[in-house]
Amino acid sequence: MITFPLSVGQLRPWREGDEDSLVRHASNRHIWNNVRDFFPYPYTPRDAHSWVRSNKSYQQPNNFAIEVDGQAVGNVGFTVKDDIYRYNAEIGYWLSESYWGRGIMSESLPIITKYIFQYFQVNRIFACVLEGNIGSMKVLEAAGYQHEAIHRKAAVKNNQYLDEHIFSMLRSEHRELT
Ligand SMILES: CC(C)(COP(=O)(O)OP(=O)(O)OC[C@H]1O[C@@H](n2cnc3c(N)ncnc32)[C@H](O)[C@@H]1OP(=O)(O)O)[C@@H](O)C(=O)NCCC(=O)NCCS
Repeated sequence: MITFPLSVGQLRPWREGDEDSLVRHASNRHIWNNVRDFFPYPYTPRDAHSWVRSNKSYQQPNNFAIEVDGQAVGNVGFTVKDDIYRYNAEIGYWLSESYWGRGIMSESLPIITKYIFQYFQVNRIFACVLEGNIGSMKVLEAAGYQHEAIHRKAAVKNNQYLDEHIFSMLRSEHRELT
């Protein structure tokens, strides 16, 4: 099983038994406000079961639970795109509000960035950040991602049009970092 140590815990695949803590930590409006609408709110036990079921058995997972104090309190994951975008991976993440501001995502993002370039045929990793999400932008910049574009009012959240900030890193740029 592929795992990565963190100073406060570890990144590891999702597994059965994570459901209760997933519901407890993911069901949060402050998280939902910054992610896609398909992320459930409220986050129900049924949502948690289907998340764990669909993520638990991969050899090379696309989603890693952030484990702190023995509990799954967040996720870092990615999807590889298709067609002419097939060398792109979109990365996304969330962390329980109880653990914000402790450097956990700043430590996790470079680890998963490296994992993607190492194990997947990907040339570019990108992230889409909604207007105002300063914490996420700082995490990406600290990991070496470039602020590449602003898609003006491209997203709608809570019935408001929001700018979407695109951050990316190319494989060649990652090589220079390491
Ligand atoms: C964005 C998020 C993942 C950040 O995780 P985190 O572990 O709290 O981030 P870190 O502690 O590593 O902080 C990174 C930097 O951002 C700053 N920061 C964190 N939250 C912040 C906030 N709300 N406002 C301003 N700055 C913030 C930290 O002070 C730190 O700055 P520094 O490097 O200058 O010291 C977390 O807040 C979260 O899950 N938010 C909701 C979901 C979300 O936004 N997901 C990303 C969608 S693109």
